[in-house]
Amino acid sequence: MTALPAHPPALPGHPHLHYEAGELWLERVPVHRLTERFGTPLFAYSRASMLAALSAYQQAFEGREALICYAMKANSSLAILQTFVEAGCGLDIVSGGELERALRVGVDPAKIIFSGVGKTRAEMRQALLAGIGCFNVESVAELDTLHAVATELGQVAPISLRVNPDVDAKTHPYISTGLKGNKFGIAHTEALDVYRHAAQLSGLKIHGIDCHIGSQITEIPPFLDAMDRILDLVDLLESDGMHLAHIDFGGGLGIDYQGDVPPAANILWSALLNRLDARGHGNKRILIEPGRSLVGNAGICLTEVLFEKSGDTKNFLIVDAAMNDLPRPAMYEAYHAIVPTLLREDATRIYDVVGPVCESGDWLGRDRALAVRPGEQLAVCSAGAYCMSMASQYNTRGRAAEVLVYGENVQLIRERETPSDVMRGERLWSPVTTPGTPSAP
Ligand code: LLP
Repeated sequence: MTALPAHPPALPGHPHLHYEAGELWLERVPVHRLTERFGTPLFAYSRASMLAALSAYQQAFEGREALICYAMKANSSLAILQTFVEAGCGLDIVSGGELERALRVGVDPAKIIFSGVGKTRAEMRQALLAGIGCFNVESVAELDTLHAVATELGQVAPISLRVNPDVDAKTHPYISTGLKGNKFGIAHTEALDVYRHAAQLSGLKIHGIDCHIGSQITEIPPFLDAMDRILDLVDLLESDGMHLAHIDFGGGLGIDYQGDVPPAANILWSALLNRLDARGHGNKRILIEPGRSLVGNAGICLTEVLFEKSGDTKNFLIVDAAMNDLPRPAMYEAYHAIVPTLLREDATRIYDVVGPVCESGDWLGRDRALAVRPGEQLAVCSAGAYCMSMASQYNTRGRAAEVLVYGENVQLIRERETPSDVMRGERLWSPVTTPGTPSAP
């Protein structure tokens, strides 16, 4: 370990991850200290990175009436939500469970917006009673149901319609949401009629218009196209006598996973706000719902190399993190950079990095050049968004622990799940069950 490689591996997109004397550090902490204390697999997030990502958005909106609603589906761990809420954000939720998390961290309910195509009546009730700021409604059936639920409660539900602008976000088909063929939103061509219908329902009050065209978008033009389509509609609706207090422009800005070069949030938003001004809507309140771009490059997942295995055609590194911890490669063939936590002078070999789960789809990275030995650790990069929040307990693997790092400060924000945690709530079949009656606990 004397001569270190001349070129340490690239660390895409991570502002607060770096090598110092051959060791990987997150902010002011060498990551081996995290794994010594908390074990692996371990998610570690840089709080400074999260705040820096947020501040790029905040800069863009300075002097405007705007609300950044963090899309908590990206990472809904309580301390992550707390960080954004304490920095002034609202929250974008998609379920009753997310609403409970939001309330747990003390967000002002008026700063909560509720997205999603399939809200249940119970969730609508729960959100109305909590006093959330806006429901983003995605169909006529949902509109009618929400009207009925609000009327039963003697309330008026604040709404906007999520309009599908039919633009191509040029991203992975599973995370593109603004095309005609997607299940999301109300067709652009039907929006006027649906707004007119909503205006007739006494249990609803129209607050705005909403759109979201997809995720991991790395170019500005699809956003501008969507903005134009939405503003065409706003013009049409206003000439029809409708008043829209806000425009919710969704989320979707991408991050650097593998040399991707998305625009910085302030650059994207200065282009969008210019367009808004040019078209005479600069005075409207703006809401946005960013997720990935606020947390994606703040997080890494640390994993230990268990075994090295050489086959005829492939070499494998079997690590202790798996598709249940990091589902994106298996689900979308997504690329996450994988780097050693300790640089060594050995020549690299080409490996597939795979987990212990019994599926061939359980891979984290393919054909990666690495110099690492069993017992050493790897960091899976860009793991702050859509990793822990999508993790499962498949193979009765408890979900990983999470830590938040800020300068030299390290705090455990989620304990590692034990097998008993995973089995909590399960019951054995009882031989004395009476037909038709639930078995005793
Ligand atoms: N608003 C709505 C209505 C959404 O559907 C989404 C994401 C967001 C906001 C936040 O988008 P973001 O800023 O994070 O791109 N699991 C996939 C991503 C699914 C995104 C779904 N919707 C992945 O791992 O790539």
